[in-house]
Amino acid sequence: MDWGMKNRLARIIRPKTKRTVMLAVDHGYFLGPISKLEDPRATIAPLLPHADAIMLTRGVLRTSVDALSSTPVVLRVSGGNSIVGKDLSNEGITVAMRDAIRLNVAAVALSVYVGSEHEHQTLLNLAKLVDEGEEYGIPVLAVTAVGKELEKRDARYLSLSCRIAAELGAHFVKTYYCEDFEKVVKSCPVPLVIAGGPKLDTEFDALNIAHNAIERGAAGVDMGRNIWQSSNPIGMIKAIRAIVHENVSAKEAYKLLEKSKKPKELARSS
Ligand code: 5RP
Repeated sequence: MDWGMKNRLARIIRPKTKRTVMLAVDHGYFLGPISKLEDPRATIAPLLPHADAIMLTRGVLRTSVDALSSTPVVLRVSGGNSIVGKDLSNEGITVAMRDAIRLNVAAVALSVYVGSEHEHQTLLNLAKLVDEGEEYGIPVLAVTAVGKELEKRDARYLSLSCRIAAELGAHFVKTYYCEDFEKVVKSCPVPLVIAGGPKLDTEFDALNIAHNAIERGAAGVDMGRNIWQSSNPIGMIKAIRAIVHENVSAKEAYKLLEKSKKPKELARSS
């Protein structure tokens, strides 16, 4: 791997632990102003110092993140779809590599939709992006998207998607946690990070998923809703950090989260 590529990846996946806590706030590119991300700056600012990298679109980066921030940026460069449109898989590349470089990104991210109507198009998007990434030393994160079909998230399907993404040259892959997750990790030759998915019933459930994924070989998380839709987003990202970088159990992480709650939040959760 060339120096620039290696250096950028090392800014995201911490060399000391070989893991990362990425904060995902790119949801608006197809979901619009979803709950707790209506004002991106207000959501992002307090969490930014606690993230190893932030994943977002160029619009939110330019309007809602301080340019003096040193948190590495993973720029979403695919889109062209919406939650009310016909088909979520109908994505194209939405940002020129020149603009990504102008924004000093550490990596670019794009979704692939294996098994969907637009499988071919999204996989060729990935291949094209990898070609450009290799030319300029910019790592590519492939996101194995499932659209509205959340039931697709089993080890067989995710192994297929992750492996195809890696074969096409993705430098790291974002996927979902699932039963037999170690099989997905084993058959994917590049680092895997997991999304959290829609907000789970309890914060413990989200910590448990992060812990299980790490234990089964994930290189970290790229989590959004289960952090910033929590009643205690900073406590939540700190608890996730403890799991990812300090190998604490989900129970220990939950205790850390409880300790960090303000009296008002404690009253609400009891
Ligand atoms: C959307 C994405 C999101 O960044 C991803 O789903 C992570 O966020 P969450 O933890 O909320 O699922 O890539 O396609």
